[in-house]
Amino acid sequence: MLETKTLLAEYKNSIDQALRDLLDKLTESDYADLQSRASLRLLDALRYSVEDAGKRIRPILSLITAEAVLGSSQRLDLKDNLATPIALAIELVHCGSLIHDDLPCMDNDDLRRGKATNHRKFDEATALLAGDLLLALPVRILLSEGRDYGIDSWRLSRAALKFTEAISSMICGQALDMDISLNRIQGEDLNIDTLTLMQRCKTGALLGAAAEIAALLAGADEDCCRIFNNFAHKLGLAFQIADDVLDATSSTEVLGKNTQKDLGQNKLTFVKLYGIESARALAAELIIEAKQEIRQTSLSTDKLEMLADYVISRSY
Ligand code: IPE
Ligand code: IPE
Ligand code: MG
Ligand code: MG
Ligand code: MG
Repeated sequence: MLETKTLLAEYKNSIDQALRDLLDKLTESDYADLQSRASLRLLDALRYSVEDAGKRIRPILSLITAEAVLGSSQRLDLKDNLATPIALAIELVHCGSLIHDDLPCMDNDDLRRGKATNHRKFDEATALLAGDLLLALPVRILLSEGRDYGIDSWRLSRAALKFTEAISSMICGQALDMDISLNRIQGEDLNIDTLTLMQRCKTGALLGAAAEIAALLAGADEDCCRIFNNFAHKLGLAFQIADDVLDATSSTEVLGKNTQKDLGQNKLTFVKLYGIESARALAAELIIEAKQEIRQTSLSTDKLEMLADYVISRSY
């Protein structure tokens, strides 16, 4: 496990640095006017939720997927990894989704990544707008950074299409999550199919896109991209099951967010439907299936399999 930890920490450090550089670039150029006038608070709020914190699982998945497609067993510097534009863009969307997820009108959380949630630190309107900006800005970053990395316009436009589809799915999944927790979906409709659809949308879509778009940017063909999407969708489902298990079994100190929330908020989870042990078993089964998925391509690497294992063995 130490090796996995070290490897993930190396990727995380380089992603943290690249995100800081990206936000510096944005505030020094595009948003310089705003920065010097009214909206300093908005940009502060955005930085607060993006910088340093988080496991960076989605961008790591993008980077190691591209390395697999490019046939590199070494960790590529981010400036040489063609998936860097989507890696950064997808993490920004994820950070925005967490700001919204924590709002009082959604999960109403006051702790995220070991510190106050965005609306607690700033205010609701600022948090809402920072989350909004983190949905719009990343598409632009994908396109402009992608061009700087020399990716052709056909691949870039396909990537942008897939990216916006994934963002829309995540939003729909979150809507389904809220409809369920507020009893707008009830009775027989609260079944495994609804649950799987919700989890695939709210969590699977961004993970799927992280891998699929990375493969696309690295030059993979359609079949290969689809397989990576299937692989990462399974990872995403297992990831959300692990999140739900941790909510029920871990502590606030370890997770850096409040625990035992799902039951109290009437969330539909695999833990609720099947219990902790069965949920764990299902997640483990999904990871086996995910690995089988990429083994068909001959592109499976130790790092991809290691990340797949980490998704369910993680303690936070
Ligand atoms: C939390 O995601 C929300 C889910 C989709 C389960 P992560 O567990 O990836 O959160 P960070 O980015 O590491 O904080
Ligand atoms: C959030 O799921 C999924 C998103 C798309 C943000 P959760 O509501 O379970 O995430 P946590 O537990 O608050 O991190
Ligand atoms: Mg939620
Ligand atoms: Mg939540
Ligand atoms: Mg959760």
